Amino acid sequence: MHFLPAFLALGLGAFKHCVAAPSSTIHSNHVVHETRSVEPLDWFISHHPEAHKRLPLRIGLAQQNIENLESMLMAVSHPDSPEYGKHWTPQQVVDTFAPSEESVRKVFGWLKDSGFSKEKIKMSANKGWIQVDATIAEVEDLLKTEYQVYRHNESGEEQIGCHEYSVPAAIREHIDLIRPTVHFDHRPSPKSETKFKRAGDVGKSPGTGPKTSPTPIHTLPVSPGLADCDQMITLGCLRALYNVPEFKPRSLDKNSYGIVEFTPQAFLAGDLDLFFRNFSPNLVGVRPKTVLIDGAVVQTTNQSSNLNGESDLDLEYSMGLTNPQTITLLQTGDLVEGAGFDNWLDAVDGSFCTFEGGDDPTQDGIYPDPLPGGFKGPESCGIIAPPFVVSTSYGEEEVTISAFSATRQCTEYGKLGLMGTTILYSSGDRGVGGHNNGQCLNSAGQPANNGTMFNPQFPASCPFVTAVGATQVNPNSTVFDPEAACEQVIFSGGGFSNIFSVPDYQKSAVASFLTNHPPPYTSAQFNTSGSRAYPDLAANGANYVVGIDGKFELVFGTSCASPVVGSFITMVNDARLAAGKGPVGFINPAIYSDDFKDAFNDITQGSNPGCNTIGFNATEGWDPVTGVGTPNVAKLIPLFLALP
Ligand SMILES: *[C@@H]1O[C@H](CO)[C@@H](O)[C@H](O)[C@H]1NC(C)=O
Ligand SMILES: *[C@@H]1O[C@H](CO)[C@@H](O)[C@H](O)[C@H]1NC(C)=O
Ligand SMILES: *[C@@H]1O[C@H](CO)[C@@H](O)[C@H](O)[C@H]1NC(C)=O
Ligand SMILES: *[C@@H]1O[C@H](CO)[C@@H](O)[C@H](O)[C@H]1NC(C)=O
Ligand SMILES: *[C@@H]1O[C@H](CO)[C@@H](O)[C@H](O)[C@H]1NC(C)=O
Ligand SMILES: *[C@@H]1O[C@H](CO)[C@@H](O)[C@H](O)[C@H]1NC(C)=O
Repeated sequence: MHFLPAFLALGLGAFKHCVAAPSSTIHSNHVVHETRSVEPLDWFISHHPEAHKRLPLRIGLAQQNIENLESMLMAVSHPDSPEYGKHWTPQQVVDTFAPSEESVRKVFGWLKDSGFSKEKIKMSANKGWIQVDATIAEVEDLLKTEYQVYRHNESGEEQIGCHEYSVPAAIREHIDLIRPTVHFDHRPSPKSETKFKRAGDVGKSPGTGPKTSPTPIHTLPVSPGLADCDQMITLGCLRALYNVPEFKPRSLDKNSYGIVEFTPQAFLAGDLDLFFRNFSPNLVGVRPKTVLIDGAVVQTTNQSSNLNGESDLDLEYSMGLTNPQTITLLQTGDLVEGAGFDNWLDAVDGSFCTFEGGDDPTQDGIYPDPLPGGFKGPESCGIIAPPFVVSTSYGEEEVTISAFSATRQCTEYGKLGLMGTTILYSSGDRGVGGHNNGQCLNSAGQPANNGTMFNPQFPASCPFVTAVGATQVNPNSTVFDPEAACEQVIFSGGGFSNIFSVPDYQKSAVASFLTNHPPPYTSAQFNTSGSRAYPDLAANGANYVVGIDGKFELVFGTSCASPVVGSFITMVNDARLAAGKGPVGFINPAIYSDDFKDAFNDITQGSNPGCNTIGFNATEGWDPVTGVGTPNVAKLIPLFLALP
């Protein structure tokens, strides 16, 4: 699992963050639109910014019909639905969710009435945002707020933000969110040097992965066999564990499987070949089809386990398992600024960036990159059709993204599901603890060293993605024995969202877990209100043999599990495409249904410790450690194949 590289406020100059306006300044027709729920611990108010300083304001317009997204998605993804598999075209998605003309008109009107001339207001290239060229003083008046410059207590870095802002009651419903305002970046923006480290310094921050074993295995024992799977996972172990039938693809040209990597993480061709020579000889010399997003480079200048481990792992296993399916590498972000999740979304879904998109300058790369040496081209918008399956082994703490931003991004995954794409995210490697050294949340909801509240992971907590947890072959056990939740080097990320409510497809599974195996924790430890819980399913995440930087290393993490599950769904799609059907798209409603119970090995041993607790138990039935269990591919394929 990698911490999403945090480039954030870096160099975006005035594009920063806002403290509460004294309530006396709130005009009678203004209502509070957003308030920051959590004050960042390590940022302090430094001073009031100069009134004449420019603050590029972006107003994200509300989308139509978004409240119906879940039911629309269920209609095409629930096995009992007569509409199953009838995925939408991108145009249908656009027509359904684009901001209404009324929203555009009302917001423009408000800005004009507030004294902004036409030249100062423009629609962003992605029509969902209205950009306003304004000064601090003008924005403070417009939003009835007060901006402050915050300084990071260690790096000295500054951000501008407000605590709360207001908009006229009459236009509130037309606006999703306004930036920069309350969306505070909890992390200092790293210099490029720190970015390399933060993005994957395995040794130093064990919350970020994938983890490698302390002693790399330079030479494998004479081709490890099934007897060694408790110590070394290879393609053969996975095929045995998950009852994978021989893959004889019949839909290679139609099928697609994408793997997302964030620059500077990159694969090395030599590493792929090292792995293939040992485990999949006919793939020697074969490479993924690389799609470069937002000036991305597959850099080979700087090499280390941290820079190459994730990409090498993802490609060696996805290519190995789906051989000879071509894998699409979605390499995202330039070397200077990096990228966020919305950037790859933009690239596969023109409707996102063109119509209601919304890159978040505190979370995503903004292209053209304003930084020296950055990518000066336009952002990559809809440059390829979304692959049928996309696996991303990166994540962040849910608390680091505002509910509005998380929701906006999450609905985007839902729309990709509507169009027939399966979105997989690894569930995190710190059990119920947070990414950052396992930090948990304090009573104010901030990540803190002495925090005791569980710290969920995003995008895994989004109800429209499939979150993948990790299991292990127990020491001295074989692939024919039941696996347990992963308790070697990493713990399977799992828990309950503090943002998203429980989706329909998961309601009864979550309720029966809470009823039959009530965790001995209070609402001061996790969101007991019955929110979206994750992961959805799991696969092995311990002891993967991976060629990295010219040698084999053992790798651990939900990072391992996600591309493996993606490979299996790609096999399912191959069978469906060969039968003249469409891809499976969003799989959660199916995998939680009774009909699919047999297609999963329920995991009932182990737990996912964190926050000074043992975390949750893996139990009979769904649990917030291993989800519905690990796949039995030979059973999964015919079940999905039987659906329309
Ligand atoms: C910065 O703030 C964090 C969180 O309060 C604290 O742990 C850390 O010691 C502080 N560092 C300095 C240099 O004050
Ligand atoms: C490699 O690392 C050096 C120093 O750490 C850095 O200056 C350079 O930008 C990096 N190059 C690439 C291609 O990542
Ligand atoms: C946690 O640490 C902070 C800062 O060191 C301290 O103010 C607070 O009282 C501690 N909380 C608990 C519950 O120990
Ligand atoms: C596994 O077997 C080895 C050799 O028989 C033994 O030394 C070791 O303690 C066993 N480990 C566990 C966890 O049972
Ligand atoms: C629990 O989750 C719900 C969504 O189901 C959310 O509205 C609520 O704020 C969360 N509670 C806490 C304490 O975060
Ligand atoms: C896990 O299961 C054990 C054994 O059944 C039980 O004693 C313990 O309380 C459970 N812990 C949690 C967190 O559910």
